[in-house]
Amino acid sequence: MKTETLGRFLAARLFLSMRSYSLMLSAPGPETVIDGVSYLYFGGTGYLGLATHPEVVEAGCDALRKYGVHSATSRGRFGTNPPVLEVERRAAEFFGTEDAFYFGSGYAGNHILVSATADRMEAVLLDESSHYCVQEAARLPGVPVITFRHGDPEDLRRVAAPWGRVLVMADAVGPSDGGTAPVTEYLEVLKTREQAVLLLDDAHGFGVLGPDGRGLLDELGLWPQVNGGESADSDSPVRLAVCGTLAKALGGFGGVIPGTAAFVEKARSSSHYFDGSSAPASAVAGSTAKALELVIRQPELRQRLQENITRLRGGLRDLGLNPPPGRTAHFGVALEKAETMRGIYEALKSKGILLPYIAAYSGIPPQGILRFAVFADHMPEQIDHLLSELRSLL
Ligand SMILES: Cc1ncc(COP(=O)(O)O)c(C=O)c1O
Repeated sequence: MKTETLGRFLAARLFLSMRSYSLMLSAPGPETVIDGVSYLYFGGTGYLGLATHPEVVEAGCDALRKYGVHSATSRGRFGTNPPVLEVERRAAEFFGTEDAFYFGSGYAGNHILVSATADRMEAVLLDESSHYCVQEAARLPGVPVITFRHGDPEDLRRVAAPWGRVLVMADAVGPSDGGTAPVTEYLEVLKTREQAVLLLDDAHGFGVLGPDGRGLLDELGLWPQVNGGESADSDSPVRLAVCGTLAKALGGFGGVIPGTAAFVEKARSSSHYFDGSSAPASAVAGSTAKALELVIRQPELRQRLQENITRLRGGLRDLGLNPPPGRTAHFGVALEKAETMRGIYEALKSKGILLPYIAAYSGIPPQGILRFAVFADHMPEQIDHLLSELRSLL
């Protein structure tokens, strides 16, 4: 190691020894360098494995050279540059919608959607285990926020009973456990309301679930009804709204709301993310547009991801570890005791495999979980290696 590199490495180690988090020293992928050690990595969210794709990286560099770091003004005036528009065009193509709104972070998506849909709502009904960004956005309308039990349509019915117009908010896919919301049952419960919006954050479903990779609502055959789309039952008082991120499966960065032209226009104009915040950075937009193009052009990416998901989930079932049902690329397995899971995490780590043990996050049980994530670019033998090491520990 050169002296300068060694110096930087030691400085990073010293800095880290004072912190509770780790330092990722390479791009995320099947092999990821963390705190100076290269691991076979089953963490995070880069499900389609595009973060280091040469075309994605080059498109980011190209946008940076052409447009500078950012437009230095909001999109409402002069701040919309071609890479940002290209993301919106590609996102609309991927999601099969008339338009899409692209903004700096998926975290803001619920905020934007609440602003666009919560007019005259009497109450917000919130799944108790929702992601932090859903919980925070739920307070925006300034009406009572009532929680219902996680994923429980009957409890939703109970809390909805006294109200007329309600906004219901939940994760479509749990960020840690990979559980999916019982959307069809929620719609059934809500159809007797005077008016209702079911607002779902599908950060982890976009790019993974459904025949066209458009997320949980695509998997459930409800995609045509989303974000201004036609409801199958035109008398239904329930509207479906969804937001997500391009920073997980879809290999880019930033939040996205696809929908009809009218709906997306409303999303752009109901809050001030469009005219009061910088457009997403040029390099990030350039890379994100290219990643979307690749996902559209190469359906085999999603196919490979699904094969890996099947392999990992099946292998875990054979070990008696029972991953939750579903076809998500990430999921949590909770064993009875935190010490057992921490022990598995440490033992795997000592063998060069990083499988995160998550002690606390929105929606996970008190003892924590082992959180599995699998990518399209994991090799089958890498998955088998994880399974075989796990077998030796159980
Ligand atoms: C359910 C959910 N929504 C939103 C986000 C935030 O998305 P982004 O990282 O694009 O801000 C996350 C990220 O962890 C998430 O899990």
